[in-house]
Amino acid sequence: MKRIRILLLTLLLFITAENIAQTNYEPTQSNLEARQWFEDAKFGLFIHWGVYSILGDGEWVMNNQNISIDAYKKLPSFFNPIEFNAEEWVKIAKNAGMTYITITTRHHDGFSMFDSKASDYNIVEKTPYGKDVIKDLAKACEKEGIKLFFYYSLLDWHNDDYFPRGKTGNDIEGRKEGDWDAYINFMKAQLTELLTNYGDVAGIWFDGDWDKKDENWHYDEIYKLIHELQPQCLIGNNHHDALKQGEDFQMFERDLPGENKTGFGTSESNVGRLPKEVCATINGSWGFDLQDKKHKSKKELIHYLVRASGFGSNLLLNVGPMPNGKIQDEHIQSLAEIGDWLKINGETIYGTKAGIIAPSKDWVSTQKGNVLYVHLLENRTTAFVIPEFNASIKSAKLFATKKKVKTKQTKDGLLIEIPESDQNDIDTIVEITLK
Ligand code: GLC
Repeated sequence: MKRIRILLLTLLLFITAENIAQTNYEPTQSNLEARQWFEDAKFGLFIHWGVYSILGDGEWVMNNQNISIDAYKKLPSFFNPIEFNAEEWVKIAKNAGMTYITITTRHHDGFSMFDSKASDYNIVEKTPYGKDVIKDLAKACEKEGIKLFFYYSLLDWHNDDYFPRGKTGNDIEGRKEGDWDAYINFMKAQLTELLTNYGDVAGIWFDGDWDKKDENWHYDEIYKLIHELQPQCLIGNNHHDALKQGEDFQMFERDLPGENKTGFGTSESNVGRLPKEVCATINGSWGFDLQDKKHKSKKELIHYLVRASGFGSNLLLNVGPMPNGKIQDEHIQSLAEIGDWLKINGETIYGTKAGIIAPSKDWVSTQKGNVLYVHLLENRTTAFVIPEFNASIKSAKLFATKKKVKTKQTKDGLLIEIPESDQNDIDTIVEITLK
């Protein structure tokens, strides 16, 4: 009896959980193809850009400095990024070996970086610049064959209809009480604009769910609307939980799938089977931060990409452009360095899946058919022992020089021997063909 009660309760929970997302979602053929493309794409550029960049203190500045609604409203009047050049950004991404871009169309500050009829608090209406940067970017992406995703914040510190409020932004002066249903309609209107006026949208990247964990976000209607407008459009939501119905990929914030070093990660049991994407900062911030000197080294960045691939995941690497519209030089350079590495080693990353050797601190593996790429990343020795490896090997060679590599099955696992002179400081890749 007790068992039946538990079963019924679980069923009930399951049904309720499903109700909050797009019910009975069946991805279309074009969506399935888009997922496949996404899984192979491996590397994208995340761009956090908004009027907050003027203050050079990250995209959370409104909340962190408790800037009142009235004071923050002045920022758009100073926003004039005359050096913004969409083609330049797209070329920087392309040169880094990236295949897509995800840009913030509206962040938690509630300011829309696109031409919106649903709210005049937008770049065209309120800034001296007066142009729709998202439109420019969409055109440049289309020209260069780069896919474009839109980051869209669910959380809004500006709009009174974002009410009841969530955990954040509560000390911002000037916020009033509004109507939640009107807020949902506002988001639907903006998403309709984004999915109507900018050509093919590769995906919508939601963020901010964690601000109100128990809220009814009307995902059922919102996800359905998106898939009706553009069936191929991939939906992802940075809610840090298990996937909900209607979502097409899963993202992991500053953590590899199943890791939770940051507190934003997703537990191992919540890692789903859909395409994965890890997002990370190139320094320590998302939005432009004048004081941030924590630029990651070439090695750290390449390792991030390789490790993500070893989990079968993409890496979405972020830059926060400056208020003049330029990307910082040190970031352009780091991106170019990753691009140079990918020009040589991209075969072991693009189009691969997580390899049969489980990722560890010292190595990860990627795989294409019966070709396994073992990426030796840390703990250099000349004899690497990979435990629990029991597939038969046809041949093993260094990816870089095609020189034969000695392997041997031992009681402790697969022994791979590589003389120090054949090792690479960033990543020694061994190409193993399996029988
Ligand atoms: C977090 C931050 C947000 C940022 C996002 C990127 O959710 O709140 O500012 O845009 O991470 O992953």
